[in-house]
Amino acid sequence: MRAIHRWSVPSEARSAVNPVAFTPEAWAESCAHFADHCASCHGNNGRGDTEIGRSLFPKAPDMRPAAPRTRPTRALLDHRNGIR
Ligand code: HEC
Repeated sequence: MRAIHRWSVPSEARSAVNPVAFTPEAWAESCAHFADHCASCHGNNGRGDTEIGRSLFPKAPDMRPAAPRTRPTRALLDHRNGIR
């Protein structure tokens, strides 16, 4: 599955760099955005253990860094973050 996912990602996307500089302002803004638009399902800590997150199918995943990497998206994010 991982290999198929890897092949499906264009090489230019693979080496893409986040165009937004990591600044305290960008971080604060993104946290506020997450709290407003994502935390209802994913929880503010990314654990996915909210009333809504638990009752979806599939459930909202645990996106914390130490969580098991079971989904392709997770593997892609880890790849982009340099985690292997
Ligand atoms: C209505 C509930 C809901 C909201 C709101 C929501 N998500 Fe999700 N999200 C989910 C569910 C459910 C999944 C799992 C889907 C799957 O496994 O196919 C998911 C999956 C993801 C994944 C993939 C995680 C992985 O490990 O593969 C990312 C990244 C993500 N969401 C980011 C966000 C962001 C960023 C926002 C806000 C802009 C957001 N989500 C808002 C329900 C939600």
